[in-house]
Amino acid sequence: MRLFIAIELPENIKKEFARMRGDIPGARWVAAEQIHLTLAFLGEVEEATGERLTAELSRIHSQAFKLRFAGTGCFPDRRRPRVLWVGLEPEPLLTKLVNQVRSAVLACGIPQEERPFSPHITLARLKAAPSHACDSFLDPRHTPKLPPVAVGQFTLFQSRLNPHGAEHIPLTHIPLHGLIRPG
Ligand code: 2AM
Repeated sequence: MRLFIAIELPENIKKEFARMRGDIPGARWVAAEQIHLTLAFLGEVEEATGERLTAELSRIHSQAFKLRFAGTGCFPDRRRPRVLWVGLEPEPLLTKLVNQVRSAVLACGIPQEERPFSPHITLARLKAAPSHACDSFLDPRHTPKLPPVAVGQFTLFQSRLNPHGAEHIPLTHIPLHGLIRPG
C-alpha cells in the first residue's frame, strides 16, 4: 500500500485554493477535495508495516496549533516551476509534529527526507510550462487573505493509484492535544 501522512484542510479553504487556479499550459491542478498539507511521504509499504506505523503514530503526543497561510511559491525555482504551492507562516508546533512523525516513520524502517521540512500546500504540478506563465499565480497581490485554520488532528492516508489519478483514503486520524483559542 502507498501511504502518506497529512493535515486535512476545511472545505472553505480548499475551495479558496481551487479558485486560485490560473490558465497555465500543462498545469495539473490538485482536485479541490484532495488539497492537503503533506507531513511525510512513505511510498509503497507492506500492510504489516502500515499497522505498525498506525501504532507508532498513535503514540505521538503533540499540541494542537493553527496554520496561518502565507504567499505562493514554486519548486524548485522560478526559472523551472514544477510545483506551485501556498506557503505557511513558521509554526514551531508544526515543525515539532513533523519531527515526531518522521521519527515514527523511521522507527518502522521507512527512510525519510533528510532535508528540513518546508511547509507548503501543493496546488499544481507542471511539466515544462514557460516560467512567465506562472507570474500571475506567484504575484503576492493575487494571494487571497485566508483565515487561520485550527488543527486538532493529522491523518494517515492511503493513496490508491487508478487510471484516473490517485484516490486518497483516510485510514487513521490521530488527535493533537490541548485547546486553541479562537482568532
Ligand atoms: P507535496 O504536498 O509536497 O506535493 C501525496 O501523494 C503527497 O505525498 C503529495 O501531496 C506529495 O507531497 C507527496 N509525495 C508524493 N510523491 C512523492 C515522492 N515521490 N516523494 C516525496 N513526496 C511525495
